[in-house]
Amino acid sequence: MKLLIINGPNLNLLGKREKSIYGENSFEDYYSSLQEEFKAVDFEYYQSNVEGELINKLHEVGFSYDAIIMNAGAYTHTSIGIGDAIAGIETPVIEVHISNVYAREEYRHQSLMAKNCIGVIAGMGLNSYRLAIEQFIHLNK
Ligand code: DQA
Repeated sequence: MKLLIINGPNLNLLGKREKSIYGENSFEDYYSSLQEEFKAVDFEYYQSNVEGELINKLHEVGFSYDAIIMNAGAYTHTSIGIGDAIAGIETPVIEVHISNVYAREEYRHQSLMAKNCIGVIAGMGLNSYRLAIEQFIHLNK
């Protein structure tokens, strides 16, 4: 299974940024542990702070990969373009969030991508990504 994890803006600062919300770990360390744990999965990781680059990446892999896990960060709540890109590709996408966006500011309660995703996992810390991987493994059996 070819699986791409996409992180959007500010997620390159994990481990340094608002640690009480997003935790102490960098995504790179966590990503290595995922690669160790799920040896059968062919992983790729992409991070960008730029909306158009995130859309380009979805277009690039969205007709050949088996699975995409996307944390679009703040663009989740604002980007019609990312929502449209997910609607336009064939690869299924699971939306993930580290924090429980529904327990936070009201502007984080709306997702412009969720309706084009097969599901949403939020509030489980970095484990949100692991749960999404497990779901894709289940679906690809
Ligand atoms: C986030 C939640 C978003 O509201 C926020 O803008 C982020 C991170 C999360 O993973 O909890 O950057 O997507």
